[in-house]
Amino acid sequence: MAHIATARKLKDGQELTLKGWVHRLRELGEKYFIVLRNSEGLIQVVANKDAIKGKVDVEASVSVRGKVKKDERAPGGYELHAGEVRVIGESSPDWPFHRYLSTEMQMDYRHLWVRSSRLQSVFKTRSVVLSALREYFEKQGFSEVHPPIFVSAACEGGATLFDVEYFGETAHLSQSAQLYLEALVPSLEKVWSLTPSFRAEKSRTRRHLTEYWHLEPEVAWAGHEENMDLQERLLKHAIRAVLDRAPLEDFGDRSELEDWAKQKWPRMRYEEAIELAKKKFPGLKWGDDLGTEEERWIVSRTGMPVFITHYPREMKAFYMKVDESDPRVVLNNDLLMPHVGETIGGSEREWKLELLLENMKLHKLDPKEYEWYLDLRRYGSVPHSGFGLGIERFLMSLLKLEHVRDALPFPRFINRVWP
Ligand code: 4AD
Ligand code: MG
Repeated sequence: MAHIATARKLKDGQELTLKGWVHRLRELGEKYFIVLRNSEGLIQVVANKDAIKGKVDVEASVSVRGKVKKDERAPGGYELHAGEVRVIGESSPDWPFHRYLSTEMQMDYRHLWVRSSRLQSVFKTRSVVLSALREYFEKQGFSEVHPPIFVSAACEGGATLFDVEYFGETAHLSQSAQLYLEALVPSLEKVWSLTPSFRAEKSRTRRHLTEYWHLEPEVAWAGHEENMDLQERLLKHAIRAVLDRAPLEDFGDRSELEDWAKQKWPRMRYEEAIELAKKKFPGLKWGDDLGTEEERWIVSRTGMPVFITHYPREMKAFYMKVDESDPRVVLNNDLLMPHVGETIGGSEREWKLELLLENMKLHKLDPKEYEWYLDLRRYGSVPHSGFGLGIERFLMSLLKLEHVRDALPFPRFINRVWP
């Protein structure tokens, strides 16, 4: 738990005014014990009843003036002995979290539950992760770009496309910025974007959202191996930042992050991954998809993030480059991370027009819908690669979250757009 005392390096005897919310409240004789919360964390406040100005309840907002007192027994090592607790915004004894709530009911009150200490720590970590990712791209000379969200064609297949009524036509919500990033490559060479991506996921799983945050770089002249090098360096930079700056103490033992930051991440061909997974899932054969269970098992064998490469081309998207030395497979990778499985999907792109058209035929796509994308292969095409990182999946792995819902404030699922 984050403590205001640690954030501020408080000293015994110091005079202090703090603004915040009443996180917990206990009455004992003539005294109130208030756990005060603000964005820095928590601190225990002790106040005589006559020091309270206004009606105090859990979640009331307050301004507290008092003296810091060192106390080994207090969480964080310090308390605030208040001369005055002024209520700014009243709360009410019917605060919903005073009684037991099922997960679904907690989700109905998500707009209030985002105040919980655990979610506060997740959101702080999320912020650290995103600033580290941005920092890395800046250092490496990438340009941040802003692709559209209303789009006309599918990037990742029609099954998970959301339709939107667009002035009498049907448009879609973007599943990935990739095709637009590819268009920007001849202008800027190294680009990245962070956008919401939308997937009409009809099944409910612990790692699928209908709206998630998608970080996608695209790099001119880069091949499949360099693409994985970039993924590993970028994520290690973010893991290092999390170790240095995130409130990890709220998430149990996270010492494995040290290993992930230090050691080389194994690379394994799909073929080998299937052989390995067969030990646990004997029915598995070449050409089968690796599902959540298979992925989690594979990654638990290594205890490290692991790249799986060279998937069968039928299983993967039309834009992936076929491996010339084994045309059954593509030059792609998924990055599987502990506790969640697939966290990145990436590949070298097919950059030759004829071969791209062949892929589209195999995937039963109508080239007419991709006319503008095909132009990119007609006018100065170059080899290039890129990938997409699911921010919520990455956080699930870093913090060992059981469910993707806790990786962002207002998660969206098939049956949830409220609040
Ligand atoms: O593997 P995906 O579908 O790849 C693409 O969209 C590529 N066009 C990206 C690219 O190369 N620029 O999605 C990439 C990542 C997944 O590995 C996963 O982490 C995340 O996006 N993702 C989801 N996260 C939460 N909920 C969902 N429904 C997700 N679908 C994909
Ligand atoms: Mg994928």
